[in-house]
Amino acid sequence: MELKDRLSDISAKAKIEINAVTTMEELETLRVAYLGKKGALTQVLKGMKDLSAEERPVIGQLGNKVRDEITTQLTETKTSIEKEVLNKRLSEETLDVTLPGIKPKKGQAHVITQSIEEIEDLFLGMGYQIVEGNEVEEDYYNFERVNLPQNHPARDMQDTFYITNEILLRTHTSPVQARTLEKHDFSKGPLKMISPGKVYRRDTDDATHSHQFHQIEGLVIDKHITMADLKGTLEALAKKMFGENREIRLRPSYFPFTEPSVEVDVSCFKCGGKGCNVCKQTGWIEILGAGMTHPEVLRMSGVDPEIYGGFAFGMGPDRIAMLKYGVDDIRNFYLNDQRFLEQFKVKG
Ligand code: PHE
Repeated sequence: MELKDRLSDISAKAKIEINAVTTMEELETLRVAYLGKKGALTQVLKGMKDLSAEERPVIGQLGNKVRDEITTQLTETKTSIEKEVLNKRLSEETLDVTLPGIKPKKGQAHVITQSIEEIEDLFLGMGYQIVEGNEVEEDYYNFERVNLPQNHPARDMQDTFYITNEILLRTHTSPVQARTLEKHDFSKGPLKMISPGKVYRRDTDDATHSHQFHQIEGLVIDKHITMADLKGTLEALAKKMFGENREIRLRPSYFPFTEPSVEVDVSCFKCGGKGCNVCKQTGWIEILGAGMTHPEVLRMSGVDPEIYGGFAFGMGPDRIAMLKYGVDDIRNFYLNDQRFLEQFKVKG
């Protein structure tokens, strides 16, 4: 076959084949088959060297024309395949922005944290500052500085976890009293503070005891503070936590760091005082311990008890939350069971 005929043959075949292509891979295979180094067109043009001088430019021209045509057709086909692929992707990956989103699961503060924050709000409103204490505390601050010297019998009620002989996990928030008192500058005004936090005791855990629980300490020291101030303050607390109609009563008690000392009861929020299962038929529920700060506590912190005095109180937010929400086992607070904790969505 003459070169001329072979060229027009190639041209015709290429047109048909390229036309039928649907993928980039097929297109590339055809490009190589026609225009590649060993491709059909290249093979034909190699035969040009045997042609006469008159024939050569004619065939050359024809060869170029065929190559240009094939190249153009390849390029056009490439563009149209690309367009098709893109359109297919666009229609497959359609994003419906009007679909509802996936709501993130929103948690809430732990019920004890919520109780503490509620009490903090009340005292902040009465001008108290909130002080942080240390959970790992010195024996000296936990006991001695709140008037519980070595071998004092009242230490027995508060056995704890010792890190060394002198370092322990605090058994109450009362050491914060001493730590705050010794730093306070009374020329700048009275001391009014509360200090919430975790405390520890070597208790056997049961429905009402946990080796780790919470306390909120309160301390007010100024000139001319009386027990009436203590009573008024605790009444405000009882009303805030248990309702406007609550009353409180003080019963004599003993704490080494207060004198006199009292246990504070609130009138039962369930039966209003008539007697029910919550108040064990007494009409009253014990909520905290308190008293007038012992002069020795002031003296040890460098404060003159002849000039200054005041009151302290200590309450357990775990117990308050148990009473308020009718929780019958303190251990529920520490199991991290969402089914239990989710019930206490007080705020947001
Ligand atoms: N620290 C006492 C306790 O844990 C509570 C308390 C604090 C009592 C302040 C009186 C004054 O039992």
